[in-house]
Amino acid sequence: MDDPKPKPLKSHGRKTIRPTLKPRELMTHTPELAKIWKAQVITLLPDAFPGILGQSLTGRALKDGLWQLEAIDLRLFGEGKHRNVDDTPAGGGAGMVLRPDVMAAAIDHARPKIAAHAHLIYLSPRGKPLTQHMAQSLAGGPGVTLICGRFEGLDQRVIDHYGIAEVSLGDFVLTGGEIAAQAVIDATVRLLPGVLGNEASTEEESFADGLLEHPQFTRPAEWRGMTIPDVLMSGHHGEIAKWRKAQSEALTKERRPDLWSERNATTSGKDISE
Ligand SMILES: C[S@@+](CC[C@H](N)C(=O)[O-])C[C@H]1O[C@@H](n2cnc3c(N)ncnc32)[C@H](O)[C@@H]1O
Repeated sequence: MDDPKPKPLKSHGRKTIRPTLKPRELMTHTPELAKIWKAQVITLLPDAFPGILGQSLTGRALKDGLWQLEAIDLRLFGEGKHRNVDDTPAGGGAGMVLRPDVMAAAIDHARPKIAAHAHLIYLSPRGKPLTQHMAQSLAGGPGVTLICGRFEGLDQRVIDHYGIAEVSLGDFVLTGGEIAAQAVIDATVRLLPGVLGNEASTEEESFADGLLEHPQFTRPAEWRGMTIPDVLMSGHHGEIAKWRKAQSEALTKERRPDLWSERNATTSGKDISE
């Protein structure tokens, strides 16, 4: 069974992942990285990867071998001369549906290349909304295989057969699952050890404690007649922490009563203001 915890950089062939690589080259198969957190993406648009994930902190971490990415072209598993991947919906209606046999061939190709207990997820507007808790749980595992739908989506039988979990980016309809897949990967990869320079920053941001984050300020001390709250300039760390907590709680109560009551329910018995 694969070790779910990514290993420190130096023990995983960093030499083969050169910082000079272009984003697409970062996805080159590297067997020596077998135990590093891995995202596989089954998609009709493999060139959409790494996309934004090849930039900034996630891009640097990819170059440094802290995680790995494989885009699997669904078209290669298509049927016939034209490599068809879709067909008309049974029962009629608009659009096309991704065929179960084609998707199953792609899944069967992908799964042996990732740890057996890696999550298998179909990005779908009908899925469970993506949450920070979900990202934390994915980050604690060996990796994930993400299936991007297109057209009217995926034949239900393949979802049922493989017991695929459905995850949604929110209550809206995207053209395809690629943007949602990148969101899942981004939210997860930044939680992997070593990806963010400052480990403490993920503990203090929104949702980490079931609360939205307090407002942030920086220089200049006065901008367009508006000043930074005095307490933040006081240097009094205890008072600053109290102010931030009070702001977080007030914002959460006002903007996300759902999160607020969920937090109260999970901390019942405790004084929430402590
Ligand atoms: C045009 S959508 C299909 C929408 C589907 N007919 C419906 O009404 O639920 C095509 C693909 O985009 C992806 N997608 C669309 N909206 C999404 C969302 N909110 N979250 C995650 N994936 C989404 C899914 O992979 C979906 O199969």
